[in-house]
Formats: sequence, structure tokens, C-alpha cells
Amino acid sequence: MAKDWTPSSWRAKPIEQVPAYPDLAALGETEKRLASFPPLVFAGEARKLKKALAEVAEGRSFLLQGGDCAESFAEHGADNIRDFFRAFLQMAVVLTFAASSPVVKVGRIAGQFAKPRSSGNETKGGVTLPSYRGDIINGIDFDEASRIPSPERQEMAYRQSAATLNLLRAFAQGGYANLDNVHQWMLGFVSGSPQAERYGQLADRISETMNFMRAIGINSESHPSLRETDFFTSHEALLLGYEEALTRVDSTSGEWYATSGHMIWIGDRTRQPDNAHVEYCRGIKNPIGLKCGPSLSADELIRLIDILNPQNEAGRLTLITRFGHDKVTDHLPRLIRAVQKEGRKVVWSCDPMHGNTITVNDYKTRPFDRILSEVEAFFDVHRAEGTHAGGIHIEMTGKDVTECTGGARPVLAEDLSDRYHTHCDPRLNANQALELAFLTAERIKKEQEAYRPPQAVGF
Ligand code: TRP
Ligand code: MN
Repeated sequence: MAKDWTPSSWRAKPIEQVPAYPDLAALGETEKRLASFPPLVFAGEARKLKKALAEVAEGRSFLLQGGDCAESFAEHGADNIRDFFRAFLQMAVVLTFAASSPVVKVGRIAGQFAKPRSSGNETKGGVTLPSYRGDIINGIDFDEASRIPSPERQEMAYRQSAATLNLLRAFAQGGYANLDNVHQWMLGFVSGSPQAERYGQLADRISETMNFMRAIGINSESHPSLRETDFFTSHEALLLGYEEALTRVDSTSGEWYATSGHMIWIGDRTRQPDNAHVEYCRGIKNPIGLKCGPSLSADELIRLIDILNPQNEAGRLTLITRFGHDKVTDHLPRLIRAVQKEGRKVVWSCDPMHGNTITVNDYKTRPFDRILSEVEAFFDVHRAEGTHAGGIHIEMTGKDVTECTGGARPVLAEDLSDRYHTHCDPRLNANQALELAFLTAERIKKEQEAYRPPQAVGF
């Protein structure tokens, strides 16, 4: 067990991004109640994810992590969850089939409610109010009452996470994710979209493969892996009081686990080695993500790895790099070289969203070509360094929103106002997400070919 660590030892450390709760007694009551509620996930599942991520760290598998920037209480319908899950499965199946690579599936969902903010206040039309920090903390409406942090929201977030997770488990294990359904997952497409056609062709090939396997006696009744998938949840561990309340001892191993989600990550704004968020994460046994932005030095990264993964356990730590399309080649090589030189086992994943945000017509947006180009650059650098480009981490939705510009059926700057629904950052819509999956599959395939041992010619 981590030395001098308890689920509350973070409380003695400096901390960033703390909401100003007006009623601390009420906050304490809420945390006490949360601590008595059942865990949302259990330790065995987190261990299973860690094992799967170890395969990614060893270069044998690929991580797909994605979902909302921020989940909201207003958008908690079954349709919304289904549409997300369908888009996510489409991406996963494209990556698995087109790149012949196992895919570890991790949603930013069922707990992704708290948002770090660059400024504590927001000013609109001469009025200044506390910033919106995510539905688990305060309300998005721009009025004084909404912006006051309220502890009851943590219980609402807990219950919404439980309900979301319940439906996701049913989808993943109860038949929806059956590979016999690849064509049914098409239903969500807007007619005439370029990705629909491309996906349709791939679905035909999968059906053909399934028919062949059925003919030789392998089918989804006899082989559960054809009808089920392991789907894991993740979120940024930002609101530590909430995380602490859901931190539990696993009875089989005696170790501490965060039970708010399978994987949690540390944001780029809260990764100071001596501060609270790193302190909390070092003591729990879940797989951990660490967001790495341009300001992270190689020395500091190694220090953070020392703290977060002292046993050098593969699968424990995923480095999620987010530099911006034009900065990847400036920053990624030095981090990779430091990690390689020290022999640290990590998963390298690319977040092509957060470094590519710009403002157009007063909308925060992300040009799709910059997102693609950050992913391309990520693969190029790993190719040059001889390391495994292990995954992507994206903000996406299953809906046909207009939040990121570009794509094969392009969203134009003047379209942004049509269906701009995000509570926080702009997300890829279902078509853009699928387009990214196709491109990524092609890159994975290319890397495999580059590293495949030369084939013997002749006999
Ligand atoms: N169980 C395998 C996996 O998760 C195959 C599989 C079943 C699958 N349903 C899926 C793959 C849906 C992608 C999408 O990889
Ligand atoms: Mn975001």
C-alpha cells in the first residue's frame, strides 16, 4: 500500500480548482451519505481494465477512449446513451476490423461531470458570476442562484452515473453489442453521409466473415466474445471530496480503489506533483490517466511517474498528450525519450481535442483537420521514436451536433449555431468521430506493416 496515504490525505495538500461551497456542513453531510452508498464499479473490473491496458503498453492493443466533455443532468435520456454507445461501437468495430487490432473500450461517461476552469469567474454583459464547473457542482444558467455550488448535485451525479452505467452494462453484455448487429448500428446515420457508405461496406465484410465462421461452427451463441464486449468508464478525478467518498477497500486484495469509475485521470491543470490531485491518485489501484500539455517538462513527467507508478506496472498509467496540432513535434519527442531512457511502461494516448480549440463567431470550436493532423503527428512521432502509438482520447457524441467545424460532410462556421449543444467543449459528431476512426485504423495498419518482420520469399 502507498506510504502515508489515506483516502483523505489529499486534504492536507495545496489544491487547485476547488469550488467555493457556501455551506461546508451540508457538504460534509453529503459526503458522509455518499460514503454509505454502494460502489458504482468494483475492483475486479478495474483490474481487468488494467490488464487490458497493459496489452496496449506492450504494443499489442489499442485504446479507444471517448465521450462527452461534460455530462449534464438535462441530457440524461436513454436515447442519448444509446446514440453515444452506438457511435462508439462503430468506431471500435472499425478499429478492430480495419486495423486487425484488439481495442480497449473506455467511455468518458457515467461520472464525467466536473470541469476545471481557466478562470474562477465569468463576465457577460457587465455581470460577473462564478464560472460553471460542471453539473456535479453548479448550474450552467447565467444567474446568481445557479452558479452557487450545491452539494446535493453530487448525489444527483452519483445516481445518474449509476443509471447510465446500468444501461451501458446491459448494452455491452445483453445483446446490443453483438457483432451480428453491425448493420443495425447503421440506423443512426443521417442519410447520404459519406461515412454511412464506408461503414456499410465494412459492415458487409464483417457479416461475410461472421457467416463464414457460422458455417464452420463458430457463432455468437457458442462464443460469447462475439456477442459481448467489455466497456469501461472513466472521468477526470477533479472533485476529490466526491472521489474520497467513493474510495473503498477491495475485500479480496485489501487495496484501495476508486469506485466512481474504472479509470480516472488527472487534468493538465491539476497535475502538480506535490498537490492534492496527485496525492489522491497515487494511493488508489485503478488505472490512472495523466493529461500532458505543452508546459510539462520531461523531468516533471518522470517525477510524476515515480509518484503514480512506482512499481512500473504496465497498464497502471496512461499518458494522454494534448499539445495542439502544430506543437506535437515540439513536445512529444522529449517526453517519449525521457520515458524510454528511464524504462518506464506507459500507454501513450493522443487527445487531439484540447490543444486545438479556437473561437469562431463567438463559438468555441475545433477544426476537424487540426484534430486529424494532431493524430497524424502523434503517429509520426511514435514511428520515429520506435514507440507504440497506443490510443486516442476524444470528446464526441452520437448526435448530429454542429460543434467542431469540418469533416467529410462539413460543418461550416455559419452552421455552428444550428445544433451547438455542448455544456462545455465542442465535441465530434457521430460522422466526424467515425471518420477519425477510419483514419486511425489506416494509421495503425501502416505501423503494423512497418514493423512486420520481412516475409520469406519463395520456399
Ligand atoms: N468481444 C470482442 C471485443 O470486444 C468482439 C466484439 C463484440 C466487438 N462486439 C463488439 C468489437 C462491438 C467491437 C464492437 O473486441
Ligand atoms: Mn473538454
